[in-house]
Amino acid sequence: MSTKILAIETSCDDTALSIISASPKGTICLSQVVSSQTELHAEWGGVVPNLAAREHQKNIFPLLKHVMDKASITPENIDLIAVTQGPGLIPALLVGTSVAKTLAYLWNKPLIGIHHVEGHIYANFVGKILNDEFRISKRDDAQNSTVSNLNSQLSFPILCLVVSGGHTQLVLMRDHFTYEIIGQTLDDAAGEAFDKVARILGIGYPGGPAVAQYAQKFQETKNKNQTNFNNQKSIIKINSKYEINFPRPMLSKNNFDFSFSGLKTAVLYETKKLQEKLSVADYQLLIPQICYEFQQAVVDVLVKKTIKAAQKYEAKTILLAGGVSANTELRKQMAEAIERSLGDPSNQSPLSYSIPDLSLTGDNATMIATAATFRWQNMGEAQKETAKNNWKTLVPNANLKLA
Ligand code: KG4
Ligand code: ZN
Repeated sequence: MSTKILAIETSCDDTALSIISASPKGTICLSQVVSSQTELHAEWGGVVPNLAAREHQKNIFPLLKHVMDKASITPENIDLIAVTQGPGLIPALLVGTSVAKTLAYLWNKPLIGIHHVEGHIYANFVGKILNDEFRISKRDDAQNSTVSNLNSQLSFPILCLVVSGGHTQLVLMRDHFTYEIIGQTLDDAAGEAFDKVARILGIGYPGGPAVAQYAQKFQETKNKNQTNFNNQKSIIKINSKYEINFPRPMLSKNNFDFSFSGLKTAVLYETKKLQEKLSVADYQLLIPQICYEFQQAVVDVLVKKTIKAAQKYEAKTILLAGGVSANTELRKQMAEAIERSLGDPSNQSPLSYSIPDLSLTGDNATMIATAATFRWQNMGEAQKETAKNNWKTLVPNANLKLA
């Protein structure tokens, strides 16, 4: 017997819906959609909560029809509704939760509220994505596709590095649904720092992918120069005149907290200094290098603190979650650090590594459906009965706590 779950996510600026079918044999994503509002908010340089809510409201019912049609499913065949309950922007959350509650009432279905960060973490439990077509088109495309066994096992304790636009946390999971926050940012989230640096440099919104792209450009040039140097050929000289160094905030502190606000300010001062000293053209040549050095500072701190925490708490798995986990350098350098730590004889516990499929790093509803499936499977009959009343009681919470 399979359980069909409809999930809704509207915590920020993506209207996302997903329908998955879970059975002991495995799980299939029947359809999913992420409708992004990036273009709308780009004009304002950040997400405007009321505009986001208006867009959610405008899009959510056509998108609901779209995923239901794509999944060839009717309301009678839905067993469970899941919705992001928080944290997030309250006007945005209100749209998703109101729709979910209304459907649960009208269709007489149980309803589960999911923590947004729990969703990001459970994107790692979706299983290996078998079908390459399982890609979210940012606008509107939902695809039928197969996701392998939902019960794909990751060994506990799991240390989750949650890095998104709203969160930077190290979360220790000793089992499913048990969360201990062992460190977090004291100011800006990692994604927020990427976004702010992109704004300082005027290179686009959202900032993470833009900064990463410029950084990669610099890296490629650097590699090319290195190859040319090794081959005794001429060295192409770009941006190598200036050395740019940014601090690694909190790295030497004996805790697992982060701070990215000072790093962002360091980028601002460096940029101002270079702008005063150089011509516009010469300054612009340095933008890829600034991005590279900034990204490297963030990645350095994230990787080193995570490895240290994994060793202290004897984690068996390191897991990445959230929008910033799309960052190629973070994914790669964490893998390399884990590899190195495995070779370290003082490290007793072998570490495995889990990263979400790239299509599931940003906000989506498949991660919410997956978390809900695990919760549902873990619930007793009485709890399942109570979930039938959640259409009356569930309230969105902008500051919902994970632990
Ligand atoms: O998880 P998410 O989609 O939304 C929140 O829950 O906040 O994360 C969005 C954040 C944004 O700050 C965005 O700039 C960042 O993730 N991001 C990246 C990359 N792709 C998205 N940051 C660094 N590198 C990327 N490739
Ligand atoms: Zn998110």
